[in-house]
Amino acid sequence: MIRRFFSSTRDIPQVAEVPRHIAVIMDGNGRWAKKRLLPRVAGHAQGVERVRDTVEACIARGVEYLTLFAFSSENWRRPPDEVAKLMELFVLALEREVDKLHRNRICLRVVGDLGHFDERLRQLIREGEARTADNARLTLTVAANYGGRWDILNAANSWLQEHPDERLISEEALAPYLSMGYAPEPDLFIRTGGEQRISNFMLWQLAYTELYFTDTLWPDFDAKELDRAIDWYQQRERRFGRTSEQLRA
Ligand code: IPE
Ligand code: IPE
Ligand code: MG
Repeated sequence: MIRRFFSSTRDIPQVAEVPRHIAVIMDGNGRWAKKRLLPRVAGHAQGVERVRDTVEACIARGVEYLTLFAFSSENWRRPPDEVAKLMELFVLALEREVDKLHRNRICLRVVGDLGHFDERLRQLIREGEARTADNARLTLTVAANYGGRWDILNAANSWLQEHPDERLISEEALAPYLSMGYAPEPDLFIRTGGEQRISNFMLWQLAYTELYFTDTLWPDFDAKELDRAIDWYQQRERRFGRTSEQLRA
């Protein structure tokens, strides 16, 4: 199969009114819980509810790809009981939600170094992906044990293994080997929770993404907040290196 990989540094992407691809760092669960004198995991549980709302809101607005950062490769550094609870929540969410995703014609993908997860979780991921593979209304990607550096190195190493006689890799060669080679680069990045950093999320793909930061904690993020981010996005002039004058001409 010949695929054309669009790269924001090699081609100038078509920009639509509604972002085609939104990528979100869902941050602030712990602080949300702390403010309510609840354990941190209560914030994570509430965060799962907001995922459901956000998926629905994205479908209603015609977004084609939604990517959610659920667990970073650095989140293993957290206390073991919090990590265990997050894994439990992930299992529960998959057990409960895959049917509904499928009914809503959502394609589920999970990206990241899944080898570190236990077998039950990996099996649920495989089943969920297989079941929803032909759905095309929205592609929902969950990044779990994901790191942007891991992604780039993994892609380069996979390519090298398949091309043992080559010495140099190109952008076009690398792109399909990235874990999200099936998706266009994100148009809009949202980080909740007030921090203004990327925390090793899609380092390669965010090259020309519009970056939106909000103080709203993830468990408080709703459709109205999403609209605020999309409104902000629609005010941006996406120049991809060109001048405003060129864009207007
Ligand atoms: C994001 O919320 C969820 C994960 C990283 C799994 P946090 O747990 O990071 O919440 P804060 O940043 O401590 O408030
Ligand atoms: C980023 O949040 C990862 C996820 C939301 C899954 P963190 O809370 O782990 O990020 P840092 O540590 O504040 O940068
Ligand atoms: Mg955090």
